[in-house]
Amino acid sequence: MTPVNKRIVLAFGTRPEATKMAPVYAALAAQPGLTPLILSTGQQREMLDGALNVFGLTPDRDLNVMTDRQTLADLTGRIVPQAGRVLREMQADLVLVHGDTSTSFCVALSAFYEGIPVGHVEAGLRSGDLGEPFPEEANRRLTGVLSVLDFAPTAESRANLRREGKPEGGLFVTGQTAVDAVREVAGRVPLRPEWRARVERGQPLVTVTMHRRENQPMMREMAGALARVAGAHPEHHFIYPVHLSPAVQEAVRPVLEGVPNFELTTPLDYSEMAPLMAASVLLATDSGGLQEEGAALGVPVAVLRNVTERPEGLAAGVLKLAGNDPVQLEGVLNGLLDDPATLAAMAQAPNPYGDGHAARRIAQAVAWHFGLAERPEHWGD
Ligand code: UD1
Repeated sequence: MTPVNKRIVLAFGTRPEATKMAPVYAALAAQPGLTPLILSTGQQREMLDGALNVFGLTPDRDLNVMTDRQTLADLTGRIVPQAGRVLREMQADLVLVHGDTSTSFCVALSAFYEGIPVGHVEAGLRSGDLGEPFPEEANRRLTGVLSVLDFAPTAESRANLRREGKPEGGLFVTGQTAVDAVREVAGRVPLRPEWRARVERGQPLVTVTMHRRENQPMMREMAGALARVAGAHPEHHFIYPVHLSPAVQEAVRPVLEGVPNFELTTPLDYSEMAPLMAASVLLATDSGGLQEEGAALGVPVAVLRNVTERPEGLAAGVLKLAGNDPVQLEGVLNGLLDDPATLAAMAQAPNPYGDGHAARRIAQAVAWHFGLAERPEHWGD
């Protein structure tokens, strides 16, 4: 009898997807009867390659779709036809996509057209607002229409999927794979020596990231507010790895370059980012992933958005919505940095996003789908 060998294609194209899928790749490789393969769209060329290196992953196929100043329609028009052809060539038995990027939705659509079942990792997150985050809220809802297996990080995200009528048999509460990834890397890689020296001299670190498309129209003013917060806290050292998007670079660099305690860097590899976050007293960010990573590391997060699809962290107390209005966010950040007792209480909040075993549950659920394993227990039930 030929041994079972199901080919599971993990498809991704951006830095955060690679980071959050790396633990899933490892867990699938350890599951008898499953062979993981990687299809990269190359949506973010440089930033994706950095993330893959950290985890020692090499794509089996790469669509290399990125162009300078690509639009969302450009990306969609390139990924959908190419991904379908390549998935066929890869003889995929199942495709796993992640989260809410253009890559996730476009590959899911191609797989659907090819008749290949789709599993959605980080399924069920909802802000309830199609404009924020844009276009991610639409991408994740559209992907959820196409997927047959949904790996919800929390019971709350499963509840969103139930409300949308998704059949119970395909729903799994797994925890966030970001928790698996950040703990592994922050535990393995030391902090950059120059930042370590600052901490030892008593200079608290604040990590900043800001790149979201819906924030771009006011990003210059938001950067101005960050400059004033840094001016009011000269004892703190702010570190901002600036996203490579030209829209972000052009808004942020002219405002923050020259602020003495604001260090602007190129995007950091995850091996530098994870220990930096772990050593910070506060993360100020409009990223989705940093909200989960802060919670997993016990580092408070000020969210530079008006809504979050990660409300579990607000309820637990580790996240605070600062909004994207410059005056409001300046007030919230000043308030937090001036109040060490509140920061300390936020840092003590329980982590609502996972226990570090999300990837193992996802791999077991995939094996279950093919009749190769027991159905995994839901996380947290
Ligand atoms: C994408 C995701 C977003 C995710 C973010 C993380 C979508 C719709 N959005 O947003 O959910 O939070 O990635 O980074 O999929 N660029 C480079 N080099 C790079 C990466 C990007 O030059 O390594 C340029 C691109 O050419 C483009 C711009 O930056 O002009 C934006 O990149 P893109 O991947 O289109 O979308 P993001 O806005 O980064």
